[in-house]
Amino acid sequence: MSGEPYYLTTPIYYVNDSPHIGHAYTTVATDALARFMRLDGRQVFFLTGTDEHGQKVDKAARAAGVDPQSFCDRVSQNFREMGRLMNISNDDYIRTTEPRHIRASQALWEELQKRDEIYLGKFAGWYSVRDEAFFEESELVDGKAPTGAEVEWVEEENYFFRLSKWQDWLLDHYERNPDFIAPRSRRNEVMSFVRGGLKDLSVSRTSFSWGVPVPGDPKHVMYVWLDALTNYLTAVGYPDIQSENYKRYWPADLHMVGKDIVRFHCVYWPAFLEAAGIPSPKRVFAHGWWTVEGQKMSKSLGNFIPPKQLVDEYGVDQVRYFMLRELPFGSDGDFSRRAVINRINGDLANDFGNLAQRVLSMIGRNCGGKVPAPGAFAPADETLLAAARGLLPKIRVEFGEQAFHRALELIWGVVADANRYVDEQAPWALARNDTARMGTVLYTLAETIRHLAILAQPVVPMAAARLLDQLAQPVDRRDFAALAQAIAPGTALPKPEGVFPRIVEG
Ligand code: MSP
Repeated sequence: MSGEPYYLTTPIYYVNDSPHIGHAYTTVATDALARFMRLDGRQVFFLTGTDEHGQKVDKAARAAGVDPQSFCDRVSQNFREMGRLMNISNDDYIRTTEPRHIRASQALWEELQKRDEIYLGKFAGWYSVRDEAFFEESELVDGKAPTGAEVEWVEEENYFFRLSKWQDWLLDHYERNPDFIAPRSRRNEVMSFVRGGLKDLSVSRTSFSWGVPVPGDPKHVMYVWLDALTNYLTAVGYPDIQSENYKRYWPADLHMVGKDIVRFHCVYWPAFLEAAGIPSPKRVFAHGWWTVEGQKMSKSLGNFIPPKQLVDEYGVDQVRYFMLRELPFGSDGDFSRRAVINRINGDLANDFGNLAQRVLSMIGRNCGGKVPAPGAFAPADETLLAAARGLLPKIRVEFGEQAFHRALELIWGVVADANRYVDEQAPWALARNDTARMGTVLYTLAETIRHLAILAQPVVPMAAARLLDQLAQPVDRRDFAALAQAIAPGTALPKPEGVFPRIVEG
């Protein structure tokens, strides 16, 4: 493998629950980016997995009447299946109950202890099991966590991490690395939180045992977030910092997270790492949250949508496209069936699907099923081809900023240009009176569709692959480097088939 390394991660999912569209969203966005980077020649390592320790999982296992390990084995499997269902191209799948991870977490702990970053003290404060987070009295809202979760008073002998010591370093780190936290609104939020003052953080618990035992003091288990965040190191070989993967991939290029877990990734994580002498990841992007048909997803409302239900109903590429196109990535938004159907029938079926179907069937009917040889290009042809050829550098910028919606807008901008061009050039009329010109127009369109299909692969991999099959493009000519090699006149094309069916509403 060659190419510059690119290491990206999803959060690891708590196994207390079954997967829902919120989880699928984070995973799909990360997958689109992983696919983009691979197609762009990067050597990608894409990690996802499950977060299996802590009080929340322990409680869920008890409620299910099974021991926590068997419970985790079962639920972790559901997240693996969600990955398969959403067509996720992860390179590794980590579970925090794996021996490699216990070893890495304990090694990080020992490193912190060796550097006197951890001390034994007495904790008294509020804890929310649902958030697996401690809260200050002043942060509580009507006696609950700011997230609305119940809190309980905890008094225990705990180990503490000297978080307060890292306050100035963190602020300086954010200043020196303006791209570390995105979007900007989240960066401001984190900076004002840190400016408000950091207290040392309790990093062990003694009132339950479902966790990584603290080295040398096994009546303590590690705070689940310290254990969980370490997964990003485990997967690249930590504590073996001489391993090839560690040297190649650490520090990570991107941690994709939801806005609810920014503090853990942007405050605690870089502080733990710096304290252990390990460089921080380059970037954390926090996306927004979905509501469903205008309401917050919650157990009590029973409106969690399992990804399988959507994929069965609409198709996997369709759901992936919707998720990444509908919301400006980073903002909150609403998931409604109406909006899904509008995107599928509009952008996918009418705009892109129809364009490909019309052009490929005209080539089938009028050119003996072979890509026609173009004559001299007219200005309108040159304009369309230039628009298609100009896409990659533009969408590279958007993917680099995780602005998936803008990348898709740009691609679909050229879909619209191509549709306008078909209408203006009317190749069906040229078929009757100017077959040479018709050949040039259909060639221009075939080459444009090839660009669009190659560039759409990160988001709609299956449909794009079927389009590239229909353009008879060999599998080794589908990456971004292949954009520069125009489709060869004379290429025999198979019989076209629609790739984006319309949703017919009953
Ligand atoms: N286990 C922690 C992460 C540890 S990472 C070291 C965790 N797990 S989670 O399963 O609760 O959430 C995982 C991700 O799903 C979060 O990024 C969260 O933002 C995302 N979502 C959960 N519900 C969501 C929505 N309703 N909408 C969008 N994403 C949401 O946190």
